Amino acid sequence: MNIEAHAKVNFTLEVLGERSDGYHDLRSVVVPISLADGVVLEPADGLTLVVDWYGGRGATALPWRSRGTRDPTGVTRDPTGVTRDPTGVTRDPAGVTRDPIGGTDDNLAVRAAKLLQRVSGRKDGVAITLGKRIPVGGGLGGGSADAAAVLNGLNEMWNLGIPRNELAALGAEIGSDVPALVLGGVVLMEGRGERVTGFFAPGASCSASGAELKHDDLRESNAPSTFHLVLANPGVFCSTPKIFQAFDAPLPKRPEILYNMRLAMQSGDGVAVARALQNDLAATAMRLHPEIGAARRRLEEAGCLGASMSGSGATVFGIARDAAEAGRIARELQAEGLWSVAAETVR
Ligand code: C5P
Repeated sequence: MNIEAHAKVNFTLEVLGERSDGYHDLRSVVVPISLADGVVLEPADGLTLVVDWYGGRGATALPWRSRGTRDPTGVTRDPTGVTRDPTGVTRDPAGVTRDPIGGTDDNLAVRAAKLLQRVSGRKDGVAITLGKRIPVGGGLGGGSADAAAVLNGLNEMWNLGIPRNELAALGAEIGSDVPALVLGGVVLMEGRGERVTGFFAPGASCSASGAELKHDDLRESNAPSTFHLVLANPGVFCSTPKIFQAFDAPLPKRPEILYNMRLAMQSGDGVAVARALQNDLAATAMRLHPEIGAARRRLEEAGCLGASMSGSGATVFGIARDAAEAGRIARELQAEGLWSVAAETVR
């Protein structure tokens, strides 16, 4: 089974307050984008994981993966001790990966498979191959997208019949971004990430006067239009817990943020969407890592209609007028040594 595990960007991300469990209450419009990891699931006796860092054809080399040394047999070894053979497959001597996205036991995709084994009582194994194209630790939900793909894929492969909203709720155990990516489509994410609703689902409404979006529909909701994006990553590693710790005072509730974004996305107007972008964590992340602010400014100077940060960073994204403009800006930033790709929202 082959699955495209789409990355996400946060068109809005509001931090509403601290919770007693150490997490923060959030409210975020999560938008899936064309950049995706390839996830291959094959029936197997045990659980195995192989990570192909370059993701095959069309994949983008990640800047922080390029510091390795190469031995005479063509095997590269990076500073963390991970080896990669000339075909791009990373393995330890036992045939499984041992790398910065987590050893086999911590890898989110493997944890997703174990979670489904546990809740279903199934003893089946699965061989998971990840073709990584989404930058790791970049605020694009790469690991969560892989985990979501495994939850959705195994639910089908093992004929478990778990409804999508229950699967999304299970995903919260793995990571805060997993429920939104299990649900798919444009999602309004709330709580610490476990409450997800289709932002454009029939029945969802939202008012500028302070009323919340109604949650009477859990169906996947497609974006009304496609928006063209340029992603850029300055190559700094942004630790999510650190950014949340350094985040000062939660801001007062601003109901107009959701309302404006909903109207802007419905209008299909990139200028309006660019104006409605919001990320409460951006100021903190840019204070800790000024490179992030610089990358965001570069996107705007190069011609994006507006730009923001995704998740807790370090990836920033800009809205471009059209696909040609997005491609041009991405190439301009690449020439300056920034990791950058053009992408678009997926519906
Ligand atoms: O759930 P996840 O593993 O993605 O979260 C990583 C860390 O980010 C948490 O341990 C917490 O410090 C912080 N976080 C938070 N509030 C959230 C999500 C994450 O404080 N809603």
